[in-house]
Amino acid sequence: MKLFIPGPIWCREEVLKEMARQPLGHRSKQFTAIFSGVLDKLKKVLGTTADVHVATSSGSGVWELAVRNCVRRRALVCQCGAFSEKWGDVAELNGREIVRLSVEPGRAIRGEMIANMLKKHDVDAVLYCHNETSTGVMNPIEEAAEVLRERPDVLFLVDAVSSLSGVEIDVDRLGIDICLASLQKAFGIPPGAAVFTASARAYERAASLKDRGYYFDLLAFRKNAEKGQTLVTPSIPHIYALNHQLDSMLAEGLPNRYARHRQMADVVREWARRHFAVFAEKGFESVTLTCLANTRNIDVGALNKELLSRHDCVISDGYGDLKGKTFRIAHMGDMQVSDMRQLLQWMDEILGLK
Ligand SMILES: Cc1ncc(COP(=O)(O)O)c(C=O)c1O
Repeated sequence: MKLFIPGPIWCREEVLKEMARQPLGHRSKQFTAIFSGVLDKLKKVLGTTADVHVATSSGSGVWELAVRNCVRRRALVCQCGAFSEKWGDVAELNGREIVRLSVEPGRAIRGEMIANMLKKHDVDAVLYCHNETSTGVMNPIEEAAEVLRERPDVLFLVDAVSSLSGVEIDVDRLGIDICLASLQKAFGIPPGAAVFTASARAYERAASLKDRGYYFDLLAFRKNAEKGQTLVTPSIPHIYALNHQLDSMLAEGLPNRYARHRQMADVVREWARRHFAVFAEKGFESVTLTCLANTRNIDVGALNKELLSRHDCVISDGYGDLKGKTFRIAHMGDMQVSDMRQLLQWMDEILGLK
């Protein structure tokens, strides 16, 4: 089955085959060599001089890591949909205070909104969702970075769960302290692991906090990564798959990869505007998925039933409160422009659109 939902997404057979290989002992020399190579390649793909890490958890685990290691007392939560809202909940569940900056679903978080909140509230970190998967909004991260450049005391924690590796995010230039992503999105790998970057400031903050816990202790990640190791037994199948995917990304060439993602987005957006409407505010449409306003009031469940039975694929209904009002099509990872054209043609046929 081909998943056109915004994660987990469809994965190439060769990636699945990597995951089916025999595991190595995670303290063995062979594993250390592979894992060190993965970290080096990940740095190259992300174009960063910051440390990079792999966590055996989905992206939400790294949300928790970011909060426990990088929020001292209070964080500003930039809330523009269900996922950014949930990260704020995670901060509260971990005993941090939060202040929410909320915009209507479909709207973007603008730099001046963050600047205004920082004037009014004493916070030591900002939780910022780059690509809000529930609304298909890609927030203007350059604007947020510009505001935060003036505030070195406030850590910039970025959820790039559904955008990293599909869109260029210049972690160093933007001054991002933690940039995290799940592998089941643009990396084109089955779910179960996540990657993240960590700045010198992130480590400094972590060192000043006592309740970092065990599994998501940022300093333990650093200590082990320096030896090509992990704190606990990692998901070795994910490390194999990531190794393979990083090689593929470097072989494709990052500018080509980013251009392919933009082309797929253009094709889907054009179709969306012709037949429905794009839910995201103009100028802030996601490059890795499109959230469509269901202006024709179609039955998304019925559409998916037809897609599944006729073509062995599915798209995604709207998320949470947006179910029925919107639906989403992912265009990320190893999907090609031709896949998107094919899907849209099938949808045209099923929906009787011209
Ligand atoms: C923007 C965003 N953040 C966080 C998450 C949670 O990630 P995970 O499901 O990998 O824990 C998701 C999941 O879809 C997401 O889209």
